[in-house]
Amino acid sequence: MASFQRAAVFSLVLMSLLWGSSQAKDLLVGGKTDAWKIPSSESDSLNKWAGKARFLIGDSLVWKYDGQKDSVLQVTKEAYAACNTTNPIEEYKDGNTKVKLDKSGPFYFISGAEGHCEKGQKIVVVVLSQKHKQVGYVGSPAPSPVEFVGPAVARTSSASNLKGGLLVALGVLVLGLF
Ligand SMILES: *[C@@H]1O[C@H](CO)[C@@H](O)[C@H](O)[C@H]1NC(C)=O
Repeated sequence: MASFQRAAVFSLVLMSLLWGSSQAKDLLVGGKTDAWKIPSSESDSLNKWAGKARFLIGDSLVWKYDGQKDSVLQVTKEAYAACNTTNPIEEYKDGNTKVKLDKSGPFYFISGAEGHCEKGQKIVVVVLSQKHKQVGYVGSPAPSPVEFVGPAVARTSSASNLKGGLLVALGVLVLGLF
């Protein structure tokens, strides 16, 4: 195979990898519109939802709530643990809050309504870096790339599983060509 063709195939695969991981998503916190409230039980908790979702740099979290009664505070790890609403990093109370996850690592949010955080209205999401994801696919074209282990990394969508599978298959194909 001419080296030009190899280069072309390689670029195509690289582009599809980049494209596949750069699609930013809006994620409704809790998975439904009335989810920003005191959870009725442990199994209903927001962190349970976060544990099943997958967050990448560029995705946005979206909250829908009554801005007269509640708010969203982005806080430090310490304030999250202590439910300290005094000096949040950011405060949102417009009832329709969107926060872009612009870096990897944990993001902490608590309710600004008095007493709500103590009763479980809080959430931590761990954002995966896209670089990490790409390295996983390119470096190990096995069916189960090892990913960052944290409270919020499980894949839920079968569509994204399928896409991941296709990318892995493409990777194997290209490795075979070289
Ligand atoms: C809450 O945080 C503020 C500063 O962010 C601090 O001054 C205050 O002592 C904290 N309150 C409690 C109860 O920890």
